[in-house]
Amino acid sequence: MRWARHAVPAAVAALAALAARDLLQREHALKRNFPLLGRARYLLESLGPKLRQYIVAGNNEERPFTRDQRRWVYASAKRQNNYFGFGTDNDLEYTPGYPIIMHRTFGRAVPPSTPTIGHEVRLPSAKVLGAARRRTHAFRPESVVTISGMSFGSLSGSAVEALNRGAAIAGCLHNTGEGGLSPYHRHGGELILQLGTAYFGCRDDRGRFDLARLKDVVAGAPVRALEIKLSQGAKPSLGGLLPAAKVSAEIAATRGIPVGRDCVSPSRHAEFSDCDSLLDWVELLATETGLPVGVKSAVGDLGFWTELADLMRDTGRGVDFVTIDGGEGGTGAAPLIFTDSVSLPFQQGFARIYPIFAERDLHEQVVFIGSGKLGLPDNAVVAFALGCDMVAVGREAMLAIGCIQAQKCHTDTCPTGVATQNAWLTRGLDPASKSVRAAHYIKTLRRDLMKVAEACGVEHPGLIDTDAVEILGGRTTATPLREVYGYRPGWGLPSAADREAVVQLMSTEAPQGGSAPPSRTAQR
Ligand SMILES: Cc1cc2nc3c(=O)[nH]c(=O)nc-3n(C[C@H](O)[C@H](O)[C@H](O)COP(=O)(O)O)c2cc1C
Ligand code: SF4
Repeated sequence: MRWARHAVPAAVAALAALAARDLLQREHALKRNFPLLGRARYLLESLGPKLRQYIVAGNNEERPFTRDQRRWVYASAKRQNNYFGFGTDNDLEYTPGYPIIMHRTFGRAVPPSTPTIGHEVRLPSAKVLGAARRRTHAFRPESVVTISGMSFGSLSGSAVEALNRGAAIAGCLHNTGEGGLSPYHRHGGELILQLGTAYFGCRDDRGRFDLARLKDVVAGAPVRALEIKLSQGAKPSLGGLLPAAKVSAEIAATRGIPVGRDCVSPSRHAEFSDCDSLLDWVELLATETGLPVGVKSAVGDLGFWTELADLMRDTGRGVDFVTIDGGEGGTGAAPLIFTDSVSLPFQQGFARIYPIFAERDLHEQVVFIGSGKLGLPDNAVVAFALGCDMVAVGREAMLAIGCIQAQKCHTDTCPTGVATQNAWLTRGLDPASKSVRAAHYIKTLRRDLMKVAEACGVEHPGLIDTDAVEILGGRTTATPLREVYGYRPGWGLPSAADREAVVQLMSTEAPQGGSAPPSRTAQR
C-alpha cells in the first residue's frame, strides 16, 4: 500500500488545484459558486446525449433519426439482416399523421416471394431528365435514389470519395453540394453539379460567376445535370461561412478561393434577382452546356413558385427539375432557429408546390426530386405518391458510411471522420470499404421501394398514387393522401406516355414472385 501513501495526497492536491481554478475563473458562474461540484453538471451535459443514445432512449425516440431507423440503415449498409421481429413498436393507432400504405390484393405487379438481403433491382426514373425541354444531353437517370448535395468542406475528402465511389457502384447520381467539384468527386460516380451563391469552382478571382470555367469543369468530369441552389431546408435564406482555419489548400483549390481566409457564401445569387432573370440564366446554362438544369429550394412563401410556374407556362422558358428540400433536412452547421423553425417540412412543402405546376399543366414536364429524411422507405413512398420522381438522400448516406449521429458536424470534431477536415479523424474512414456500404444502402432502399410498389400492385414506385396512402388521424380515422392535400385525380403520376415506357422498362426484369402451382380445381 506504499503507492497509496503518495497517490492520495497527489489526488487531493490536484482536486484542490482544480477547486482553486474554479473559484478564481470568471467564465462560469456555476463553477465559481460551486467549485468542483459545478463541473459535474458540465460533464453530465456533455455525456447526456451519449447516455440517452446508448442506454436510456427507446427505439423510436431520438432525432433526427430514431434508433430503429439508424439500425435499418446500418444493417442495410452492411448487408446484414435488416428485418425487425415481433411486429411494429410504433404507436400507430395513436399517432395522428402516421402514413399507411394500402396494399392491393390482385394488383398488376407480382410481389417477390423471397425478398432476400442481396436481391438487387433496377429502378430508373420514370421521367427522362431534360426531355420535355429537348436539352442536348437529356437522359433517364438509372436510379430514382440519388445522393444529396453535401460539399467537400462540410464533409471530409474521404467521406466525399466514399459516397462518389458508392454512387458509381450503385449506379446513382451524386450531387456535389455547393462547395464545387473536388478531386474526391472524381471516382467514377456521375454528378449533378450544384451552383450555390458563391459559384465555387466556376468563379473568377473576384468571386464573379465565370461561364467559361463552368464549361471547363463540366467538360472535365461526368457531370450530367446542373442544380442551382436557391435554398436548403435547414437554413433557407442564409449564406454560409467556412472559417479561415478550415480553408485548406485542397478546399481553396476546389472552390477557387485564397487559402487560410474566411470563405463566405452570400445569401443571394448575383446572376439573377427575380423569376424572370432566373429563367434567363437557366436557359443560358442549358444552352451553353447542353445539360438539364434545375433548382433546389425549401418551401416558404409561395409567391416565388406561382410566378415561376406562370412564366414557364407563358414564355416557354423553364427548369428541367425542381428539388424540394424539407425544413427537417440536414446541414453541416446552421443557427438553431433556422434548423428548427424556418421553411415547411417536406411533405407539406412539396404538396403545396406540386399543385402549382399541375394546375398549369407543367407537372409532367418537370422532374420532381424530394429530400428531407426520404432515405427511409416509408417516407420515400409518401414522396413518390405525392409526385416525386426521385429522392435525394443526405444524412442517411452519411449514416451508411459510418456517421453515428453524434451531431458535432459544426465543430470539426466529428468522431467518425465523416464531417471534419481533421486529418487524424478522417484517417479512420476508409473510402474503399465505406463506398461498398453506401452502395449496399442505396440498393436496399431501391429494393424496398420496389417491394412496396409491387405490394400496391404497380411496377414502379412512381406509379403509386395518392389513393394508395392514407394518413391516420388517430385510432378511429384515416384520410386518403389525395384528400389530405386536395390533389385532383391523376396528380402525382407521370404522363401516360412515361407510365407506359416505365412499365415496359420494368417488365424486362424477371418476375420475382408468384404462387404455388394451381390445384386441379383451379385448372378446370
Ligand atoms: C453535412 C451536410 C452538408 C450539406 N451541404 C449541402 C450543400 O452543400 N448544398 C445543399 O443544397 N444542401 C446541403 N445539405 C442538405 C442536404 O443536401 C439535404 O438536402 C438535406 O440534408 C435533407 O436530406 P436528408 O434528410 O436525407 O439529410 C447538407 C446537409 C448536410 C447534413
Ligand atoms: S458522426 Fe456526428 S459529427 Fe460526424 S457526421 Fe455524424 S452527426 Fe456529424
